Amino acid sequence: MTREEKEEALRLLTEEQLPIVTAASDLYKTATQAVPGDGNADAEVMFIGEAPGQREDEIGKPFVGAAGQFLNQLLESIGLQREDVYIANCIKHRPPGNRDPLPQEIAAYGPWLQGQIDIIDPKLIVTLGRFSMEFVLGPGFSISKIHGQPKRRNGRVVMPMYHPAAALYSGNLRPVLAADFQKIPKVIEIIKNPLKKETTEELEEKIESQQRLL
Ligand code: URA
Repeated sequence: MTREEKEEALRLLTEEQLPIVTAASDLYKTATQAVPGDGNADAEVMFIGEAPGQREDEIGKPFVGAAGQFLNQLLESIGLQREDVYIANCIKHRPPGNRDPLPQEIAAYGPWLQGQIDIIDPKLIVTLGRFSMEFVLGPGFSISKIHGQPKRRNGRVVMPMYHPAAALYSGNLRPVLAADFQKIPKVIEIIKNPLKKETTEELEEKIESQQRLL
């Protein structure tokens, strides 16, 4: 699909999913508006966060508050602009008081997020925080153990990372998240190399050995 076709498909997906999520969950009742996602529909890298916060709810775009400013800095540190990537959340309506999303809410909004992933078809998915990590990789992973490690899932490469908000509140996570971001360009380069389709282990090994060369 061309970028224009993907944009149109995302628009149709929003139109299709809005009535479905509002029938399945009450989150929309306390939210100002839906926050479907933002960025380049044909991006190589897709970031997935948790849910809109207050600023996102007001503006209608993901990651525009404090965590978003930090995300912008992290993107700039690897030579990317927001317009180069696509950013979405597991949940498209702000949970009241920014509470954690409930499992049934993640399930209700799941087909919307999965539809976005399928349309954008990114080379790399970066999950930000625990909820999107679980959505993409399934249960049973600990973010403190697997952050920054590229994994293969359903023919795609996924890199789980800490949530920028967690790194803002817990200062010792900031350099960890910043270091994980530095791996993104290399991972994309490796994915684009069509000579060999690495297994998860080979990918990790390759990243590791390239890290050691630095
Ligand atoms: N945190 C998220 O997970 N998503 C946003 O859009 C903003 C903050």
